[in-house]
Amino acid sequence: MSDPAWIHVFDPCAEAHVPVETVSGKVPSELVGTLYRNGGVHSPDVRHLFDGDGMIRALRFQPGGTVRYESRFVQSATHRYRVRNERWPGVGFGTRPRFRLPRLPGRVMGASNAGNTHVVYHNGALYALWEGGEAYEIDPASLETRGVQNFGGLVSIEHPFSAHPKLDPRTGTLWNFGMVYGRFNKIRLYAIDKHGKSTLAHSVTVPHAVINHDFVLSERHAVFFLCSMRARPNVLLMPFGLRTIDECMRWDERYPTLVVAVPLDGGEATMFETQSWAQFHFARASEASGELVVDFSRTVNPTMFGAAARDFRHATFAAPYGQLNRARIDLKAGKLLSLEPRVDFNTEFPAVDPRDPFADDLVFTAATPKGQQGLQRAIGWLRPRDGTSDIYDFGAGCVVSEPVFVPRSPAAALSDGFLLAYVHNPKQFGTLIAVFDAQAPSNGPVYLGRIGVNAGFTFHGSWVAAT
Ligand SMILES: [Fe+2]
Repeated sequence: MSDPAWIHVFDPCAEAHVPVETVSGKVPSELVGTLYRNGGVHSPDVRHLFDGDGMIRALRFQPGGTVRYESRFVQSATHRYRVRNERWPGVGFGTRPRFRLPRLPGRVMGASNAGNTHVVYHNGALYALWEGGEAYEIDPASLETRGVQNFGGLVSIEHPFSAHPKLDPRTGTLWNFGMVYGRFNKIRLYAIDKHGKSTLAHSVTVPHAVINHDFVLSERHAVFFLCSMRARPNVLLMPFGLRTIDECMRWDERYPTLVVAVPLDGGEATMFETQSWAQFHFARASEASGELVVDFSRTVNPTMFGAAARDFRHATFAAPYGQLNRARIDLKAGKLLSLEPRVDFNTEFPAVDPRDPFADDLVFTAATPKGQQGLQRAIGWLRPRDGTSDIYDFGAGCVVSEPVFVPRSPAAALSDGFLLAYVHNPKQFGTLIAVFDAQAPSNGPVYLGRIGVNAGFTFHGSWVAAT
């Protein structure tokens, strides 16, 4: 079978510092700042989509409409072994070296944090994040790795910091969680205030070891859907380097989903079981009169996604994998009221205007057109005001990861701004950066730029406006 058109998105790529060439259009004058992105660089010995070495890409939108691209590896535990050409003792999602004997857990897990999933800015600091350990602090200007950040000792190998913190724009507090597995399985909820003071806000014991990637904030709760992706008992072998995370996961739709809503201001968590589903990423949530509404990209076919992520260089991603869904929940009764799709195309990586993530307003996603297969090649959006949804398709073979919304100005109306998409295009032999008017993405990009080197595959990103 021939390789998929997007195969070169997984090629190894080098650090670079180059201008972005204009393909068409003009950078809007209001767009001045930096789009940071993170994603793994896949050397040939990497065996899973999630296991490349973290690399921070910075697209610097400068006054006058020019754009520069800079990239630098996260000096992570995994990358240091690769640079020294030493045998790596860690474990990844699907990559592990075969040793004859178990290694000490501290040595295994200390070598495993690839810092390759997200890059988040808070309180003047930039963090490269994985989901099994501490954060790597990155210099926003030089992209050098400053070191490991453990938030005053709150996070560690045993008490991880996930890759999906959420900023509460009302307070400037950055919330995040870490999953702890063992005799007691726990969700640890961290709060880092706008001055950088870090606290353990909650530690909630849950009945099962569930692999969980993301969460969402409503006005009053941190909401988790602990889905039917359970950790198997062999997860206890992982810290000894004898199993990968992928080998310890089992999707089984006989397991219910556990909804957990943790009050942000203290108090006991609401917890109840409901029907089976899976998800990676949330869009937004809000609550009123005890009813919680959560928009998220429901993973429609999690077994397919597991196999394709293992065989990512050659997989066809032939089945639909996600769809924007809305869950309505009665918090008082502890009951799912409804679970409905909101669009008719396939989605992943939902995004909203970060200035008000509680508002029922525009949701943007990476998307696959209805009836098509493969990795996401489009951006999609839903406009709840009139219920319309649509996509902009970059075409066969293109790969689009999480789009990032940028407000036109701090005072602009909600969802008035730009949508930035990072697009691998095999016909252009590289990566494109596309800027859309977020109110009219159907019109196509207002600016399209080309990075003249291979910028590889990224998952998530964050915009930091120039000050
Ligand atoms: Fe993610």
